[in-house]
Amino acid sequence: AFTPRVFSGIKPSGGLTLGNYLGAIKRWVDMQSPDMDNIYCAVDLHAITVWQDPPALKAGTREIAAGLLASGIDPENSILFNQSQVPEHAQLAWIFNCVARVGWMNRMTQFKDKAGKNAEKASLGLYAYPSLMAADILMYHATHVPVGEDQKQHVELTRDIAAKFNSDFGVDFFPQTEAVIEGPGTRVMNLRDGTKKMSKSGDSDMERINMLDDADTIAKKFKKAKTDPDGLPETVEGLAGRPEAKNLVDIYASLSDMTPEAVIAQYPGASWGTFKPALADLAVTKLAPISDEMKRLMDDPAEIDRKLARGAQKAREIATPILEKTYDIVGL
Ligand code: ADP
Ligand code: NA
Repeated sequence: AFTPRVFSGIKPSGGLTLGNYLGAIKRWVDMQSPDMDNIYCAVDLHAITVWQDPPALKAGTREIAAGLLASGIDPENSILFNQSQVPEHAQLAWIFNCVARVGWMNRMTQFKDKAGKNAEKASLGLYAYPSLMAADILMYHATHVPVGEDQKQHVELTRDIAAKFNSDFGVDFFPQTEAVIEGPGTRVMNLRDGTKKMSKSGDSDMERINMLDDADTIAKKFKKAKTDPDGLPETVEGLAGRPEAKNLVDIYASLSDMTPEAVIAQYPGASWGTFKPALADLAVTKLAPISDEMKRLMDDPAEIDRKLARGAQKAREIATPILEKTYDIVGL
């Protein structure tokens, strides 16, 4: 049996979005417990699978750290660090590259989405991304990984890698990690195209809410969000087949810790002209204190770097013996 341990990461490849907050960060904060290790990470090695401007990448890593701290990740009781500062991740990823099969990688839908039609021109790192993610998780023998729905397939692959490693070498060394994907915020959609997830990279700024957006910008973006001519339904069943409407109700529910049913019950049959400003007010109420604190923290990059360095040190205390044991099992 493996002791419960939580791990998760976010790529520093652009500003944090409401999708990152509701799908990941908010739940990481809630899962913090003094009774177990909570390990949270800015995954900069993942970010460079596509081109990153070097100074922007460094700033992005600090912004992630500031976002996590401002949202309530407590660096005294959780481990908060930057992936590249713990070289064991890359070392374990190489071993997993030799355990995972090419056919498994070929089935990863996120690679297909991100590489697009020109997969030949994608980096080898983008292709091997899930193997590095498995290393991030298994580096700590993490048992639970809170993520958004888009990461489900990668966590399943992590389980496959763990199982194959254990069976190849006749050991019970890596756990079967569970993805924790719960609540209405696990798939926040793009505000202008309800069929795409909201993302910090790729889409235009009007399509997403950034954690650093000011109140006016948030209000404007929700006002311009795509909706259908009908307003809110009388019951949640009325959201079926209406992705844009469902998205706005889900965002409201996730921000307020309510169920979508309770949100609908509060605004039965409301017009968008009523609901969108209420949603914008709610988002500002929740995000403004976080973005204010983020800005304050980002004014002192050296202090963020110190916190990340301390976190990396704590992470390595767990990672080093696990990597040593892995090498020994493999015969290295
Ligand atoms: P992005 O797609 O914004 O670059 P990452 O790949 O860094 O985000 O993902 C960081 C975490 O945020 C993951 O757990 C991911 O599942 C979650 N996440 C990202 N976008 C969304 C979204 N639109 N809705 C819910 N969760 C999301
Ligand atoms: Na903890």
